[in-house]
Amino acid sequence: MADLEEHFERTIASDRRVEPRDWMPDGYRATMVRQIAQHAHSEIIGMQPEGEWITRAPTLRRKAILLAKVQDEAGHGLYLYSAAETLGADRAELTEMLLQGRQKYSSIFNYPTRTYADVGVIGWLVDGAAICNQVPLCRSSYGPYARAMIRICKEESFHQRQGYELLAAMMAGTAAQRAMVQGAVDRWWWPALMMFGPPDTSSPNTARSMAWKIKRHTNDELRQRFVDVTVPQARVLGVTLPDPELRWNAERGHHDFGPIDWSELKRVIGGGGPCNERRIAVRRAAHEDGAWVREAATAHAAKRAGPGGS
Ligand code: ACO
Repeated sequence: MADLEEHFERTIASDRRVEPRDWMPDGYRATMVRQIAQHAHSEIIGMQPEGEWITRAPTLRRKAILLAKVQDEAGHGLYLYSAAETLGADRAELTEMLLQGRQKYSSIFNYPTRTYADVGVIGWLVDGAAICNQVPLCRSSYGPYARAMIRICKEESFHQRQGYELLAAMMAGTAAQRAMVQGAVDRWWWPALMMFGPPDTSSPNTARSMAWKIKRHTNDELRQRFVDVTVPQARVLGVTLPDPELRWNAERGHHDFGPIDWSELKRVIGGGGPCNERRIAVRRAAHEDGAWVREAATAHAAKRAGPGGS
């Protein structure tokens, strides 16, 4: 046991990857399952806010882009559930825990998409925040998660660019289109900052996850990085970020920004956001409607395995 523990500690200290068959502390396994499952649930639930716009996309080109993006998110979710399975988790159980409210998904997907500008802002800000958070996860200590993250980040980068390009097109349009973009930015800016999680001073998991190199940066570090990269992009787009306290601080070499309403994050995580009930109801309905597909796939696999096969 001492040998196994030492091997694990050496793997972490020397920046090598922990692989599924390696011994790992129970707490490490539980943390990885928790984070990967939440991440997978977020990708799947995250299909909903934008998916609602597929039938209402303004042009064929926009529809093709949006379809591809939402499909990518389904792929990310399945990829991540597979990574969770390498830790011994059962996909059906994880889904059940989500539906019972025993596992979380990202707060950001509990906000409504009111206009097509929201599709652009989700790409620019939400996927932009996801990239800030997930690029360091490509160096996360658990091998299957880190490797999944490489492909996911490449696709997220396409998502972010399509959002920015959509917003740039709208900003070059009519006054009504520009107002639509500004309205969407006003609604999504603060929830996007909340995506990074609670402040470091009240993040129960960060210290342990940093020591295990699951997380490479703290929530506040990544939030600051996101603000710093986004401010110049907003300037080029010609939109105003809705924070009167946002300004460059030459001494810190970072932007200062106003206080975040943490009670809102708490409320949304706790189920009280504007769309929580709807998101879970749609997810539950999709799961129930898909039961016949799971049954058929299981029957097909059993048939292929033949008598005595499993
Ligand atoms: N939405 C919902 N729950 C959140 C959020 C959020 N924005 N931020 C933090 N939480 C939860 C945590 O999951 C944790 O809950 P739990 O302990 O009951 O499981 C609790 O709040 C306390 O937070 P932390 O101690 O800071 O938790 P953690 O160290 O796991 O950090 C973070 C949270 C940054 C989200 C981390 O889990 C992470 O990097 N996850 C991977 C990325 C991810 O899941 N992104 C969501 C998808 S984004 C997209 O698809 C566009």
